[in-house]
Amino acid sequence: MTIGAAVPRKEAVPKLTGAARYVDDLVLPGMIHGVTVRSRAPRGRILAIRFGSGVPWDEIVVVTARDIPGRNCIRLLLDDQPCLADGFVNHPEEPVLLLAHADRALLDRARAAVEIDVEPAPAVLTLADSLAGGTVVWGTDNIFKEYRIEKGDVDRALAAADVVVEGTYETGAQEQLYIEPQGAIAQVDRDGAVTVWGSMQCPYYVQKALMPLFAVGPEKARVIQVETGGGFGGKEEYPSMIAAHAALLARKAGRPVKIVYDREEDMAATTKRHPSRTRHRTALARDGRILGLDIDFVIDGGAYATLSSVVLSRGAIHAAGPYECADLRIRARAVATNAPPHGAFRGFGAPQSIFALERHLDECAARLGMAPDELRRRNFVQKGGTLATGQVVRDDIDMGALLDEALARSDFHERRRRFAAENPTSRVKRGMGLAAFLHGTGFTGAGEKHLQSVVAVEGTAEGRVRVLAASTEIGQGTNTVFAQIAADALGVPYDAVDVAQPDTAHVPNSGPTVASRTVTIVGKLVEAAARDVKAALAASGAADIADHVARHGPLRAVAEYLQPPYVSWDETTFRGDAYGAFSWAVYVAQVAVDTVTFEARVEDFVAVQEVGRVMHPVLAVGQIEGGVAQGIGWALTENVVWRDGRMANCRMTDYIIPTSVDVPPIRAFFVESPYAYGPHGAKGIGELPMDGPAPAIANAIRDALGVSPTRIPATPETIEETIEEAHG
Ligand code: MOS
Repeated sequence: MTIGAAVPRKEAVPKLTGAARYVDDLVLPGMIHGVTVRSRAPRGRILAIRFGSGVPWDEIVVVTARDIPGRNCIRLLLDDQPCLADGFVNHPEEPVLLLAHADRALLDRARAAVEIDVEPAPAVLTLADSLAGGTVVWGTDNIFKEYRIEKGDVDRALAAADVVVEGTYETGAQEQLYIEPQGAIAQVDRDGAVTVWGSMQCPYYVQKALMPLFAVGPEKARVIQVETGGGFGGKEEYPSMIAAHAALLARKAGRPVKIVYDREEDMAATTKRHPSRTRHRTALARDGRILGLDIDFVIDGGAYATLSSVVLSRGAIHAAGPYECADLRIRARAVATNAPPHGAFRGFGAPQSIFALERHLDECAARLGMAPDELRRRNFVQKGGTLATGQVVRDDIDMGALLDEALARSDFHERRRRFAAENPTSRVKRGMGLAAFLHGTGFTGAGEKHLQSVVAVEGTAEGRVRVLAASTEIGQGTNTVFAQIAADALGVPYDAVDVAQPDTAHVPNSGPTVASRTVTIVGKLVEAAARDVKAALAASGAADIADHVARHGPLRAVAEYLQPPYVSWDETTFRGDAYGAFSWAVYVAQVAVDTVTFEARVEDFVAVQEVGRVMHPVLAVGQIEGGVAQGIGWALTENVVWRDGRMANCRMTDYIIPTSVDVPPIRAFFVESPYAYGPHGAKGIGELPMDGPAPAIANAIRDALGVSPTRIPATPETIEETIEEAHG
């Protein structure tokens, strides 16, 4: 068995030796470079485009919206986002023109020499202004999407409560900051066939976007994922844009075109995590029972709809957390502003709504004079209980046991007592904070059923096994875990399994690499197809794979997704089984705040989680450590500074992510309760660790200082303001 063992990563040697080739390493014959010219005005009508002097414009390939052979849109859910602005811009990074030339330095000069005159129109730059509706910039009311989740009668619960606690919580944008910036190479043949090589999570999303843009079918829109240096959601939808741009330039130039963003353009122009504002009104009984949850969750989607409706749905469904509550109402809205569209980022809306809930529960506990762990313990959903959507919990979960382990491992109560005694006389004040949460595995509701993912496994003439799927290796270990699953199902060595490069011309559509779905949903299909290959081998009586292929021809099996039979979901009422299963966790942070500099530092971190099955211990710990580090950044330092809808600090010198000196020991512990529909019992692990760190850290700051941080990032400035507000 390789499952559960720390086998070497499939792509480790090429990455470590530098042999791995990323987009920017690839050179096609005759290839030239492309760049994007953007608006800069947050909103307005394009009056004129001027090409300045000193640039040999006759040598430069120029593409505008008029060069698009099909529909001017980046197809995703709605078709509202243009590929290139045509007469009007809705955010300050909106692509207007594309330029290509063999000389990159000349291209930079050319880009700087383009002037776009925009007649300004009123812009909406904040979530609050968008909600106020004074200026409408999208649809009739700035609302991309609204959902309501209702259970019981929350108004009755609020009226009958012993105590009602209200609070408003805000989270900022966050940049994914994958190591490799976005990039793509495109080539367009004489017959109009488009081929794209790119850094991406979802080759079939890019194909879907190219087809209407070029008015071609899937056979003329081929997309190949090349080695990808991280994604975190940031390469879910934006690669469609950069691929489309490279392909439009390649078509006009008649030669391959490469576009690779530098860090500044990548940070400013591509998607980031949705900023959010959540209001809570909570009905409580004196004994700590949560009687009612009234939640108003709003996310800022930026200028176009993109994925905001789906981010919103995951955020809404997770907004009531792992608690049993008979009476609740969740109102969720995604609103438009004139910022670049916000998009997928690890957690997909859940970190935002979970931050608000877990922060708010500490306020509730304080009001009741109860310890934060005790309030949670009294309200945890049990197996057989129901979540916000009415979903009955089938997971074999005991949140109380996870909590006990997290408290014990972190020495929570003893340290809390000690810090409370030390803090009054010390400049550096310490606190302990915790968060309890869950994260759904795979697409929401009927999403997986609609996707209908397919995977193939084949035996080759050389006697090797090959897994064919569109799921991408983006640094998280897809290829390694797929190879483990196939090897164990077939009874062959791990080293005898290869995972095919995701290429829409050669691999079936196993769906996008998102939503904590790859191991559980797609890995289950790898297992099923591998078992079918094994059965075919047994039936043919061949000695081995090579013998089978030599005597009987191709050896190949295909597996298609089957929804667990109990899943039932109503897309209109948001009632039913939102996910086939959840992963569950309790995280504890120890934080020190310097009361002179107001800097908060995380000193210790305990992460206890139930993920079904740990497939690869090193990769699993890596997911937790990486997610916690990203959560520390979101909680404390990663501050996107907005100026007229633009990210003003789009450089790694002034957008501060945690480095190794900012990250404490992250102590990860796993509980395994196998999920019947995951391979070897595995549930999702990719996004879960993004949900808990920020509220645990903010709760620890509250414990240290006795004041309530309600917005993140809790930078020194924010902490100072919070203290000043609290003391009048
Ligand atoms: Mo992910 S945030 O579902 O790409």
